[in-house]
This record gives sequence, C-alpha cells and structure tokens, in this order.
Amino acid sequence: MTSESQPRTTQEFIQQLLSPQRDGTLDMLSILSFSEISHRDRVAEIGCGPGYFTPRLAKALMDGKLYALDTDEEMLDACRQQVTAAHLGNVEVEKCGEFDFPLEEGSLDGVFLAFVVHESPDQPRFLQSIRRLLKPRGWVTVLNWHRRESENGPPLERRIDPEAMQQMVREAGFRYRNWRDLNGEQYMMTLRNP
Ligand SMILES: C[S@@+](CC[C@H](N)C(=O)[O-])C[C@H]1O[C@@H](n2cnc3c(N)ncnc32)[C@H](O)[C@@H]1O
Repeated sequence: MTSESQPRTTQEFIQQLLSPQRDGTLDMLSILSFSEISHRDRVAEIGCGPGYFTPRLAKALMDGKLYALDTDEEMLDACRQQVTAAHLGNVEVEKCGEFDFPLEEGSLDGVFLAFVVHESPDQPRFLQSIRRLLKPRGWVTVLNWHRRESENGPPLERRIDPEAMQQMVREAGFRYRNWRDLNGEQYMMTLRNP
C-alpha cells in the first residue's frame, strides 16, 4: 500500500485483501487461463495471505492438491477460515519460513505467487528456494504491482517492473515465458522450471 492507504494492523490488511472489490480488478478466469495450471496439479500458493486466491485455486485443482503457505499466523488463521467456509478437501494450509517450505524438493507441478515477491528481503534467494520445489518443467505464475504510482499497493521503491522481474527470474534459473497487464496497476508473469 502507499503510505496514505497503508493498513494499520494485520486485521485491516486482511479485510483489504479479502475485499470483494478485488473481484473487479482481478479477473480469475483470465489469470487461470494465462497460467499453466491443470486440474490434476500439485500446487503451492506461497504467500497465500488470508486466502483470497486459495478457494479459487483449489476449485481449479479438482483432482489435484493445493498447499497454501504463509509466514504469518494471523494470515494463516484467516486463510483456514476461507477454506473451511468453502468446504474444500484438497487444501492444506501451513506455516512456512521465508525461504523454507514444508514440501519435498522436486514435488510440485506449479507455484502461485500473488503479490509476495516484493515482500522478500532476498528476492533471488526466495525465487531459487521456490525453483527447488518444482518438478522439471514445473510452472510458476507471479502476480505483481507495476512500478508506478497507484492509490493502493506497496511503496513504489519495493515494486518490481516486468523487465526487472524477467531479469531476476532468469538469474534464478527459470525460463521466462510471458507477461500480461491485468488492470493497469498489476500484471502477471508466467515462468517454467527448465
Ligand atoms: C501482500 S500479501 C498477499 C496475500 C495474497 N497472496 C493475496 O494476494 O491476497 C503478501 C503475503 O505474503 C506473505 N509472505 C511474505 N513473505 C513470505 C515468504 N517468504 N514466504 C511465504 N509468505 C510470505 C505475507 O505474510 C503476506 O501474507
């Protein structure tokens, strides 16, 4: 969030992240179609927060499995409530470390990263840790804020533009696939493990 609209508490941030207003700017159908997700995949949503995306992803993984991971207990509690309310049996909500995830290396078909990369104090290490979780040719979908002024979103200096993101993911060993604008303020990018 920019300083003016920065939520003061985690609970305020949770309310903001679960706000139905997000449905107007994040078209889940487009996000899923542009992702390489398949209904049988084993996927980690890293930085799941309070679970705005979690039920939507879990429903796209009808015959698969979703691991919703976050470093923050309050976010995880809120995410568990979303999962329970949606009666989803294919989701595990678990705490992770900044660079350590409770999953076997090489075990995932895909990773979904929504508005989390900019929060990492060591983004190359974060991306490399994620790459180790993926099977060969596993996919990653990244959602990020454009590096431009907007009413909401993280401070400008923490934002990563698509060009810088492309370079960072290549340096982390990923194969860059594509990116597309989502709503003028946010974009998504797709990657592959080689
Ligand atoms: C801006 S919120 C986005 C939450 C959710 N993806 C969404 O868009 O609604 C970023 C979340 O990432 C979590 N986070 C930050 N660094 C993380 C890390 N290294 N591993 C896992 N989660 C992390 C934070 O606790 C927070 O819940």
